[in-house]
Amino acid sequence: MLDKLNEIERSGLSAIPAVQDEVGLEAWRVTHLGRSSALMHVFSAFGDISKEERPLVGQRANEVKKALEAAFSARSGELRQQELKRSLEQDRLDVTLPGRSLPLGRLHPDTQTLRELYHVFGEMGFQVYRSREVESDEYNFQLLNFAVGHPARDMQDTYFVEAGSRGDNPIVLRTHTSPGQIRVMRWLSALDPGNPPPVRVILPGMCYRYEQVTNRHDTQFDQLEGLAVGPGITFSDLKGTLADFTRRMFGQGTRTRFRASYFPFTEPSAEYDVECFLCGGKGCAVCKGSGWVEIGGCGMVHPVVLQNGGYDPERYTGFAFGLGPQRMAMLRHHIEDIRYFWQNDLRFLEQF
Ligand code: FA5
Repeated sequence: MLDKLNEIERSGLSAIPAVQDEVGLEAWRVTHLGRSSALMHVFSAFGDISKEERPLVGQRANEVKKALEAAFSARSGELRQQELKRSLEQDRLDVTLPGRSLPLGRLHPDTQTLRELYHVFGEMGFQVYRSREVESDEYNFQLLNFAVGHPARDMQDTYFVEAGSRGDNPIVLRTHTSPGQIRVMRWLSALDPGNPPPVRVILPGMCYRYEQVTNRHDTQFDQLEGLAVGPGITFSDLKGTLADFTRRMFGQGTRTRFRASYFPFTEPSAEYDVECFLCGGKGCAVCKGSGWVEIGGCGMVHPVVLQNGGYDPERYTGFAFGLGPQRMAMLRHHIEDIRYFWQNDLRFLEQF
């Protein structure tokens, strides 16, 4: 029996170097260590062996089994290494293949327009000042020269916030970005009340009006306010600034016009129009047949407003404007209806 075990061991160990792959190794295992292998027959025939021989045969059979198992796992390790080496050499990973692209989000067209405006006005030396969206009547109207009951308030139908009884100074959602003029002037003039520094800021942000919604009017819209205050600022500075801005934003040949208008907080006041890009000035639904689209109001800062901001109107003058970024995006991208901006329709948003 011991001879037989020696032979089983010899034949198993001598066959293993010839095994070249996983399939061959499995076949080897079945032949030499499997249930029907010669070695397993020795184990199952234990009962037939004499009592004296049994411990010796048992010990040797276990040694042979261990030797074959060790040979099996050693060869298995070698084969795995060989396969790894082969695959590293032959199946090289092609890192030049493009990866799977993830769907990327993008900035809202209104945000894109605002960022472009910051850039254009930034190049002209304007800094961004953020003012609050929830305002008091005092800042939204009174300090801007709209007295309580002033008829010009009718141009800006207002959302009021229920905040207890505040008499003539209720809380409102700002109807325009102009109250930020007072806030920025008060902030700067407080730094040096006897000699306040010049102001050159833009004030972006949401405004709210109880509007009849049309293709050009929404109840929520962005404005970009501009304010420049300093000694000797004139209406020519306002015209030059807006003309330069329009050229940078819409291109060199863009036609613009000023129309005399009225705002309580500027004197003189004007509306600023850009030729309707949608119809090329011929007249369409967006420009109400006029060939022009109003993108903002402007004017020279009223002396009362300068005074309310802490600037002496005898020493300082200034200009201000309030533009509609969505109207500009509409002109730029030929968007026919302002309602698209906040409808969250991906078919619209994905075009920008
Ligand atoms: C004002 O709001 C003034 N505060 C602008 C101003 C600032 C004048 C500084 C003088 C000095 P107006 O109501 O015209 O003005 O609005 C200015 C711009 O905001 C409009 O030209 C338009 O582009 C935009 N706008 C106004 N109402 C709406 C609305 N309901 N929907 C979309 N855009 C609007």
